[in-house]
Amino acid sequence: MELEKVLLSRKSCRAYLDKAVEEEKLERVITSASLAPLGLPKMCTPMLTLVTDKVALEELGGVYGAPALIIVSCPPSPAPGLADQNAACVVEMMSLVATEEGLGNIYLYGAPITLQQKAELKEKMGIPENFTPLAALAVGYSTEDVAVCKEFAPKLELTKF
Ligand SMILES: Cc1cc2nc3c(=O)[nH]c(=O)nc-3n(C[C@H](O)[C@H](O)[C@H](O)COP(=O)(O)O)c2cc1C
Repeated sequence: MELEKVLLSRKSCRAYLDKAVEEEKLERVITSASLAPLGLPKMCTPMLTLVTDKVALEELGGVYGAPALIIVSCPPSPAPGLADQNAACVVEMMSLVATEEGLGNIYLYGAPITLQQKAELKEKMGIPENFTPLAALAVGYSTEDVAVCKEFAPKLELTKF
């Protein structure tokens, strides 16, 4: 899919089919995370956790029935806000590739915040204590087709100086 079509097709998916995502597709989405720009990469490179366990997904909540969740956790950063920004870059990169793969997906803030409160589950998922889950991408097959649904038009306020 050409880039513009991916951009115009990406939208938050909040209804998923009860169908697992093929390993190769998940692998491609996950690999794309490594292409994201990162601030202070030597100290602040995030780690990913792929969750497909239905009980764990249920416990986290707020994933809209998606069969897979990719959690982005970051180590402490000496620069305020940097870890969140790194996590956001990683999620957005994966979101675009998931869209290109024909997968519904949604950026989630709520599920990783819930995980922050669940030390035992976080440990079971293999996330080290000093890594904080900050963002996540839910992926799966949407109940709707992935199709162009936006237009290339400015919506954000812009000031020029
Ligand atoms: C940083 C961030 C956090 C978000 N967290 C959630 C969330 O926890 N739950 C949710 O339903 N949507 C979440 N969203 C999705 C937004 O609601 C959605 O992107 C926005 O409404 C625009 O819709 P679109 O993605 O279809 O263009 C989040 C999006 C971003 C960028």
